[in-house]
Amino acid sequence: MADYDVIVIGSGPGGYVCAIRCAQLGLKTACVEGRDTLGGTCLNIGCIPSKALLHATEMLHESQVNFEKMGLMGGKPKVDWSKMLAYKSDVVGQNTKGIEFLFKKNKIDWLKGWGAIPEAGKVTVGDTTHTAKHIIIATGSEPSSLPGVEVDEKTVVTSTGALELGKIPKSMVVIGAGVIGLEMGSVYARLGADVTVVEFLDGITPGMDLEVAKTFQKILTKQGIKFILGAAVQSVTTAKGKATVAYKLRKDDSEATIEADTVLVATGRKPYVDGLGLDALGVSMTKRGQIETDGHYATNVAGIYAIGDAIVGPMLAHKAEDEGMALAEILAGQAGHVNYGVIPGVIYTHPEVGSVGKTEEQLKDEGVSYKVGKFPFLGNGRAKANFAGEGFVKILADAATDRILGAHIIGPMAGDLLHEICVAMEFGAAAEDLARTCHAHPTYSEAVREAALACGDGAIHA
Ligand code: FAD
Ligand code: NAI
Repeated sequence: MADYDVIVIGSGPGGYVCAIRCAQLGLKTACVEGRDTLGGTCLNIGCIPSKALLHATEMLHESQVNFEKMGLMGGKPKVDWSKMLAYKSDVVGQNTKGIEFLFKKNKIDWLKGWGAIPEAGKVTVGDTTHTAKHIIIATGSEPSSLPGVEVDEKTVVTSTGALELGKIPKSMVVIGAGVIGLEMGSVYARLGADVTVVEFLDGITPGMDLEVAKTFQKILTKQGIKFILGAAVQSVTTAKGKATVAYKLRKDDSEATIEADTVLVATGRKPYVDGLGLDALGVSMTKRGQIETDGHYATNVAGIYAIGDAIVGPMLAHKAEDEGMALAEILAGQAGHVNYGVIPGVIYTHPEVGSVGKTEEQLKDEGVSYKVGKFPFLGNGRAKANFAGEGFVKILADAATDRILGAHIIGPMAGDLLHEICVAMEFGAAAEDLARTCHAHPTYSEAVREAALACGDGAIHA
């Protein structure tokens, strides 16, 4: 008889959620984690600490830009960087301890240390071998490296170093105009750093609805962030605590350099599977180093499964969580399922950007006949009152059936507003279903309804 029904390796959003659901469904469960705290990349060095710094600096920005307009006088706050970092660490601590509490509550054993799989059915942690009917790999991801760029996590940093810089830099070059680059770039721009983003492609946030991406770039530029697009970084050199980034413009091969106190390398992440022993086990991998799984998260080796950033798909905490829940249900004999067509993506800048389903470019490529309903936040009373009139809601619906195919929001609370559209999409709703739903006034959500109305006979306030 095995020690456990399930051993999960890795306690990030994929692993800990999977472990909790397994335990709730009656499976005897353990989770292996090598870090000192539970919660993985997301809670320790990802989603949570970055959102704490985004929140603190957004408050700062709000106080600098809008307070006096509302009659809130009394001077602008000064930044105490070490206090801000302490606040961030406190938020992280509360969250990681929360997972420890949930493990105890659900009687999940935390096997402390780095796990390896010597053979199916066995997991070693240090000198101890544990046995399990099912082994789930949820070991997440790590930053991709860039040829010619050496990270020291002081002057040249990944997101991990960017979350705890020794001091606020006067200047920062961000390599990569993706999610990490723009979120962390926004944090330091609001703290007063001169931020330049160097991006290989000709636009920011590849894959995002183009109209939204262009508006997003304009808004960030207005906030003082500079962009060098179509630029291939060749090298980063450091001397006397400064870094020099050399890049080549792709349009004419001309070369240039830019200097900064800090360089953030944010050019993507790759699965982390070091030390598990997957080669020896013969686990199939994709060309991009992801663990290959079938529709039920099973690898080609019986009894071994994988979820989250370590497998194919968007590297998002909630995608990992949903896979964790679905796999637990499958192992418990239920019908676990993830709808990959309705996975929201949010960038937590100010304004936020939220996106779900198809972009306009994808619909064109697929030859789908669609209609667009758009509504600007400038027409929303609540947004006007809150100085949050930038951006718009865009809903894409099937031209013939009115079924919602995608939604893209740039504006206040976009990440939260998106979810009524996600629910609607899960139910196969038409834009008219949203448009006929009474929305409270005055809320930002009225902009969603107006965009849905714009898919039909027209918005009222535009
Ligand atoms: P991870 O969270 O990476 O967890 C894997 C865990 O496995 C780690 O704790 C690791 O120590 C452990 N581990 C690895 N190997 C072993 C081993 N052999 N033995 C024991 N333990 C092991 N996503 C969002 O959805 N929203 C956001 O706002 C967001 N912000 C982010 C901000 C930053 C700066 C970064 C870097 C990422 C962000 N992400 C965000 C992405 C998100 O963090 C990941 O998609 C998510 O953490 C993936 O979850 P996971 O469970 O697959 O792996
Ligand atoms: P990303 O894939 O979002 O963006 C990387 C960017 O770097 C792309 O624009 C790419 O074109 C560019 N790039 C690649 N090579 C380059 C080069 N040599 N020179 C210049 N630019 C180059 O990756 P990022 O921002 O590192 O984030 C990693 C993952 O973490 C993402 O998959 C994301 O989903 C997740 N994440 C999610 C967040 C959220 O949901 N809010 C926040 C932060 C991270």
